[in-house]
Amino acid sequence: MPSSSPAETYLLDYHRRHAGATTRAFASLPARRGADTLPSSYACLVTEVPDDGRPRTVLDLGCGDGALLALLAQQRTPGLTLLGLDLSEHELASARARLGRAATLHQGRAQALPFADASIDRVLSHLALMLMDDVETVLAEVRRVLRPGGRVSVVVPGTRPPTEAVATFVQAVRASHAVPSLPLGDARVRSGEGLRGLFGAGFRLQSDVELEVIGDGPPERVWESLATTYDVDRMSEESRAALRTAFLTAVAPLLRSDGVLPYRWGLRQLTATREP
Ligand SMILES: C[S@@+](CC[C@H](N)C(=O)[O-])C[C@H]1O[C@@H](n2cnc3c(N)ncnc32)[C@H](O)[C@@H]1O
Repeated sequence: MPSSSPAETYLLDYHRRHAGATTRAFASLPARRGADTLPSSYACLVTEVPDDGRPRTVLDLGCGDGALLALLAQQRTPGLTLLGLDLSEHELASARARLGRAATLHQGRAQALPFADASIDRVLSHLALMLMDDVETVLAEVRRVLRPGGRVSVVVPGTRPPTEAVATFVQAVRASHAVPSLPLGDARVRSGEGLRGLFGAGFRLQSDVELEVIGDGPPERVWESLATTYDVDRMSEESRAALRTAFLTAVAPLLRSDGVLPYRWGLRQLTATREP
């Protein structure tokens, strides 16, 4: 599995130390999509796989510890073949323990998929595309493995103005000047226009919608979730402790009378079909 850029080396190290961190942060938080509230942002991708009796092969790209694949397996949709691919052997070990024989898991890079041309009906990806090096090669690979008319749906960070708690966190991180610079992924994936542009060649856009993940909770719990972000992970212990204090102090005036901190995280879900 050649590469490893500084970004991939860091991601491998982070996911060795914190396998399952994304699931712990997001799997139990409801997500609003338009007028609907779904159980989680993972569930927003499950709706891409209809239970209409047609056999389908579904790939979770950057599957981490297999949370999305587990939701798909629980559907018990007849004829569904589940595949997962991830860089991190540690995430895949957790996925294997969770999924058993329900999915076939591959360690590898999204830039070089170990699947035949036109062999997959759905490519789904939750909070992974924005981390990937050389995203144009990744999308060319997605296009190659999808059958003509097959669908790809990705959940990535959104561009909605953040709620005050998130804005406060972002300001506190910037003010700390304590995060060593390490660009992860391609910045275009984090902007609506950039992402639509990347899917402009070889795909037909089906939808591009904002998701709102609802993480309201006690401030300490919100901090625990924010502390798993890659930026906070790369800080020294000392800087992290100072950031925690700065964050908890700054959000104190935002608490509701019941002690809950309103905390919403903006994501987006883009869905496209492969052009013939
Ligand atoms: C933030 S985690 C999300 C994991 C999982 N999709 C979830 O939401 O629970 C990102 C995952 O993408 C994987 N990843 C990053 N770059 C990758 C690449 N080029 N190819 C395959 N996996 C990659 C990481 O190893 C990590 O498991």
